[in-house]
Amino acid sequence: MSTCPVIAIDGPTASGKGTVAALVAGKLGYHYLDSGAIYRVLAVAVAQGGLNPDLSADLQRIIPMAANLPVQFRGDKVLLDGADVSEAIRTEEAGVMASRLAVVPEVRAGLLQRQRDFRQTPGLVADGRDMGSVVFPDSFLKVFLTASAQVRAERRVNQIEGRGQKADFQAIYSDLMARDKRDTERAVAPLKPCDDALVLDCSNMPIDQVVATILNWAQERI
Ligand code: DC
Repeated sequence: MSTCPVIAIDGPTASGKGTVAALVAGKLGYHYLDSGAIYRVLAVAVAQGGLNPDLSADLQRIIPMAANLPVQFRGDKVLLDGADVSEAIRTEEAGVMASRLAVVPEVRAGLLQRQRDFRQTPGLVADGRDMGSVVFPDSFLKVFLTASAQVRAERRVNQIEGRGQKADFQAIYSDLMARDKRDTERAVAPLKPCDDALVLDCSNMPIDQVVATILNWAQERI
């Protein structure tokens, strides 16, 4: 396997791992992979195609879509087949659909190499659910970033309202719990800390402290 260094930051939805991972990558001058965005792009493609992953005939069409997903990252923009889906992938519907697709082993297998392709010098910070366990098991630092469900739901509400959209706390809280359950209980690559991961509960920590903690851990190992 490549010796290019990887920091894996896994954790449940809305734990802040995306923001933290991007900041850590920026500080180290590393590349950044938001693996959830790839699952979300597939979700948008599936929704656009009017496909339902619960129907086996539709699933047979979805599996090759995962392996051949025409996704591109251009700075802040995420493109599906050349069209800008940066906003479409951030809706709750896209997140829920992504989580439903993520339980299918063939979908996960189809997206694996695409994620590994992000491993490029001088290094990579990757966030997701299975970065440390499956995608980059030789990461030199594995962090499991978590926060209480209440705090995570509040953060998601703030995020949505910050985009000028309306957010219903109760609906978001229930979606988040359902998503956690599905991500945690699935048979393949379930969401759980690896044995060699450092667990960080950031419920009561400001973001700069979370970033500083992870950078310290990284410095100790570099
Ligand atoms: O991190 P996120 O909320 O953007 O991810 C959306 C969904 O994609 C999440 O509920 C589960 C799935 N996912 C996954 O199974 N494995 C990953 N590495 C990243 C995301």
